[in-house]
Amino acid sequence: MGTPTVGTERAALRDAVARALRAPSEHNAQPWRWVLGPDHLDLHVDPTRRLPFTDERGHGVLLGCGAALHHLRVALGARGWHADVRHQPEDPSGRPLARVRIRPATDGPGPWTLRHAAAIDRRHTDRRRFSGGSVPVTALQELDDAARPFGGVLHLAYGGHRAVVADAMREAAERQPTHEGYVAELDRWTHRYAGGHDGIPASARLDGPPPDYRDLVLRWFPRGTLRQPRGGADHDDASVLAVLTAVDESPVSVLRAGEALSAILLEATAQGLGTTPITQVLEVPETRERVRHRVVGAHRPPVCVLRLGRPDPLSPPLVPTPRRPLAEVLSETG
Ligand SMILES: Cc1cc2nc3c(=O)[nH]c(=O)nc-3n(C[C@H](O)[C@H](O)[C@H](O)COP(=O)(O)O)c2cc1C
Repeated sequence: MGTPTVGTERAALRDAVARALRAPSEHNAQPWRWVLGPDHLDLHVDPTRRLPFTDERGHGVLLGCGAALHHLRVALGARGWHADVRHQPEDPSGRPLARVRIRPATDGPGPWTLRHAAAIDRRHTDRRRFSGGSVPVTALQELDDAARPFGGVLHLAYGGHRAVVADAMREAAERQPTHEGYVAELDRWTHRYAGGHDGIPASARLDGPPPDYRDLVLRWFPRGTLRQPRGGADHDDASVLAVLTAVDESPVSVLRAGEALSAILLEATAQGLGTTPITQVLEVPETRERVRHRVVGAHRPPVCVLRLGRPDPLSPPLVPTPRRPLAEVLSETG
């Protein structure tokens, strides 16, 4: 038994979990469950929110939980707390994915913490065409720097590498819908009952035909209400593709890669970039292997592709996607 967590620490952890609700997750399934104990906070997978026909290997679930864990760290850091995080493989006996203990930080928030905390509410997945404005290499370098503390490496896919990823994306977009159960699962997460507070709402889905930007084909979603920018001279999507890789495919490495993904997305948002995380191409074994061997090298597994671009300045702001209330994801013991 540890020392009981004092009230201020419990309140800080509760507040940070509330901020972590904004983390991205595949199909906005929000596959996390938090348990606040007497002297620690535990993160578990919510098994009812897995996507067995889309995310067969369970990597998407771990990436979403890792992103929530990183959001939690950022929220705590911005409030002057240091988080000690112990990652561990999930266990059928109920062992959590991560256990978090906090103590007052000895120095002020690190260089990224405040800007990332400020980006949490501004980060959204943007599936629209980006502008023709180029993404500076220095900005991309910062994204890779943000990923490294969590074992993530961001590989930029230019030229021939981009062509390999784009071809693989196109093939995955054709093949995955033929997999048993995939379409029904997509349908379930895009047609939620009122008050469900999850899934991908119409406001985040394009109102036109399947997106096809330059050489890129994104995951198809049922038609929504999100409008493409009207265009103009600057309308040619100049987004960059990048591939995030993990140390290896162990659950702890993929969970940490989810933290890296969150760090990248928040840093990109802070820099004014729009982002689309894309895992479809890595969910079809053949296209995943092609990206792995021909773009990043066999030694590091790719876990997420990112589309990064400058939003069209005339595009209206995106509507935040829903999140379940705190009481649904956090339980308290002790
Ligand atoms: C691991 C992971 C995989 C994702 N894969 C895709 C994808 O293949 N295509 C896509 O359009 N969005 C993808 N997304 C974005 C989610 O749909 C999005 O995060 C979720 O709907 C919540 O919306 P928000 O990011 O705007 O908060 C993915 C997100 C995560 C974290």
